[in-house]
Amino acid sequence: MLDSTLLRQKYLDFFADRGHAIVPSSPLVPENDPTTLFTGSGMQPMLPYLLGAKHPQGTRIADSQKCFRSQDIEEVGDNRHTTFFEMLGNWSLGDYFKQEQLEWYFTFLIDELGLDPARLYVSVYGGDEKLGIPRDDETAGIWQQLFKQKNIETKIVDQPRTQGLQDGRIFFYEGGANWWSRAGEPAQMPVGEPGGPDNEVFWDFGADKQFHEHSAWKDQPCHINCSCGRFLEIGNSVFMQYLKTDKGFEPLPQKNIDFGGGLERMLAAVHDEPDVFKIDLFVPIIDYIEKVAGQKYTSANSASFRVIADHLRAAVMLIADGVQPSNKDQGYFVRRLIRRAVRYGKQLGITQPFLGKIAEIVGKTYREAYPAVMRNVLSVTQAIEGEENKFLRTLEKGLQEFVKQTAGSAKLTAQLAFTLYETYGFPLELSIEEAQHKNLTVSGNIHQEFQKMKNQHADRSRTASVGKFKGGLADTSEAVVKYHTATHLLHAALRQVLGTHVEQQGSNITGERLRFDFTHPQVLTDREKQAVEKQINDWVAADLPVTQQTMRKDAALKAGALAFFAEKYPDQVSVYTIGYDPEKDWISKELCGGPHVTNTGEVGQIKITKEKAVAAGVRRLYLELV
Ligand code: SER
Repeated sequence: MLDSTLLRQKYLDFFADRGHAIVPSSPLVPENDPTTLFTGSGMQPMLPYLLGAKHPQGTRIADSQKCFRSQDIEEVGDNRHTTFFEMLGNWSLGDYFKQEQLEWYFTFLIDELGLDPARLYVSVYGGDEKLGIPRDDETAGIWQQLFKQKNIETKIVDQPRTQGLQDGRIFFYEGGANWWSRAGEPAQMPVGEPGGPDNEVFWDFGADKQFHEHSAWKDQPCHINCSCGRFLEIGNSVFMQYLKTDKGFEPLPQKNIDFGGGLERMLAAVHDEPDVFKIDLFVPIIDYIEKVAGQKYTSANSASFRVIADHLRAAVMLIADGVQPSNKDQGYFVRRLIRRAVRYGKQLGITQPFLGKIAEIVGKTYREAYPAVMRNVLSVTQAIEGEENKFLRTLEKGLQEFVKQTAGSAKLTAQLAFTLYETYGFPLELSIEEAQHKNLTVSGNIHQEFQKMKNQHADRSRTASVGKFKGGLADTSEAVVKYHTATHLLHAALRQVLGTHVEQQGSNITGERLRFDFTHPQVLTDREKQAVEKQINDWVAADLPVTQQTMRKDAALKAGALAFFAEKYPDQVSVYTIGYDPEKDWISKELCGGPHVTNTGEVGQIKITKEKAVAAGVRRLYLELV
């Protein structure tokens, strides 16, 4: 039986056979992208190359990228949504385009995965006159040929949302449905963001299956992109060829393919199993929950099982990539995942702590694909158990507060329930349950009222995160590249001034500053800081060339190239050297994917603005361009 490990391998082999370099997954927390908290799609780490920077591995790249979509947290519970997933991806960076891409993906699905072509359907971009972007008849034409080769009828249907399936095979969707960018539809894209029409492939599980409990399917015509669950999107080819500018959409310097398909979803199609939680990546977690909950996974309790399984897998992956549960940024989401899992555990009647063990189960499942999880299993387990216990105590406190606040009153108000939820994470359901125990009246519309308060709150935080996304996409890219090179200069200067015990531990760049963590046992003196600054500014003044070479990893390391996380890199690596001669006369050599400036002079003068400790033996410096 085809399992996830084999499917992943088949996909990578298939594209390697067609000239693609296979690259490892980037971490779930983007390394040098201040505009978003998580890697939410396979293309995010590819952004500079889609915009035209030269990829050190060439113009054909494929990978399996770990992704986390925080915006889907509330969607989890149905047969197909997960917050963490693996995106199988292939890219053409100005190389092949629609014909090869669609032909290859179709061949992969049919010849490699053995899918029945008669159960595949596609959606195509319907065009937008206002934007001056035409309807994608070319893609529809290619699909007509491909299906014809398999003797399959290809009726084309317009307006599927209102007209329904109508025995169609190829469906033109209007508006933003078949458009992809990191920011969503064209109108939501900030200036400087690339995007393009896309083409999605769907698997039909069949009209006879029972999995549309939560949908409006029965009252509205079903179409391939409706939410009833009958059709599952298993791949998306984005024709990444436009750039949003202040004058509208303009062609990118090159036409790219950005393909992404969920590993879990493809596997669900292969097994003709509409519930992605029944594929091998989830089975051991579901089995374990069955054991602690003392009940089988059924359609009645499936939402709780799915939330726990999805959220814990995601939390484990995020913690293994360095995120700790906390109140801000990425850490906030890990906290939320764990807390939601605790609550859903309570709905299954689980009262004792049980989440820590899932770290080991997930680690074993991904032993081959992501060995780091198993290596860090102890610290991941500790982080999860710490948060779980903290939340259990919080719930206890919420309960006490509930008792206090309702003493002498005859009623549970939505406001009190919301305050308890906001302050203690005490769920509405528990408030209602407690109220019933104590014979308090609960108003009939408490759910609506509570939801209204929650929406108002969510709107406020969404506004904040949209602001975060917009901040800097367009205008920082040039500064970001300068800071990228400044990172190498700072690393080299610290090693010169303080000694070669200095090793980079991490970095983070925004359009305004560079943050750099490194090993060093004590606080830096003013004199040391001045010496580091002066060294960097001297190198800038010397206008040293920055050169890129692709070479074998062992050769690069032997030549003295610095690599933090050496094992993360593939055999062929990209090396950036700063100096007059990359063999004999250089000041910095590092394994790095770039992009960088071509001469240090372009960076301009810099200053160190702050220094502090982050952990025992690890210091943090902030540096700004002046
Ligand atoms: N970027 C596209 C997506 O996430 C395809 O990789 O669907």
